[in-house]
Amino acid sequence: MRRVLPFLMTLLIGCAGQTSRKPPIEIFADMDRQPKYKTQAAGAFFADGRASRRPVAGTVAQGQLKEDAIFYAGAEGGMYAGRNPLPVTRDLLVQGQERFNISCAPCHDRAGSGRGIVGARSMWLATSLHDQRIKDMVDGELFDVITHGRRSMPGYRFQTSEQERWAIVAYVRALQRATSGTLADVPEELRQELR
Ligand code: HEC
Repeated sequence: MRRVLPFLMTLLIGCAGQTSRKPPIEIFADMDRQPKYKTQAAGAFFADGRASRRPVAGTVAQGQLKEDAIFYAGAEGGMYAGRNPLPVTRDLLVQGQERFNISCAPCHDRAGSGRGIVGARSMWLATSLHDQRIKDMVDGELFDVITHGRRSMPGYRFQTSEQERWAIVAYVRALQRATSGTLADVPEELRQELR
């Protein structure tokens, strides 16, 4: 009996492969039928037959008024913002470091060299963030690259908030600064100790 019982159970439940005109016996209906529309589906309720609705013209959803062009787009009037609109504090840099290590380091490496793990295992090479060309970019352009991506680099606007992107920009600046020090940056009394 112990062997027969599972066999009988399989017979009872496991008939999913057969077609029939009768409605299936549902022991657990789970969520097979849901009173909802799928994205872009047609619907009978509205006259234009579209289930997905556009926002009402001239309205803004709560919390979605993005008036500050510099903060939200990194540019205003077709010009990139010259400087990070957020005050660069220790907290911002710590946050930027955390986000950079999550979102950028896989390709650009934690130091920004562009030799991250992705490049090491594929032909998909990232740019070194210490290139003079990248150092010369204004903060708004860096923000734009992170937001929309550029050429073979994907954008990160869905993974990061605007605030986080400005934190990353600040941290990239700190990384760049860390590799471009000169003797003049060292206090005079410490210069003899340099080797
Ligand atoms: C999936 C891999 C990948 C990730 C993650 C990534 N990048 Fe890139 N990045 C690239 C590649 C590849 C390029 C070179 C793009 C090209 O020139 O085709 C690049 C180029 C760049 C450039 C130079 C753009 C230019 O004008 O040449 C900057 C700046 C940059 N990335 C910053 C970032 C920052 C900041 C992050 C984190 C938010 C990030 N990247 C995350 C792959 C990546």
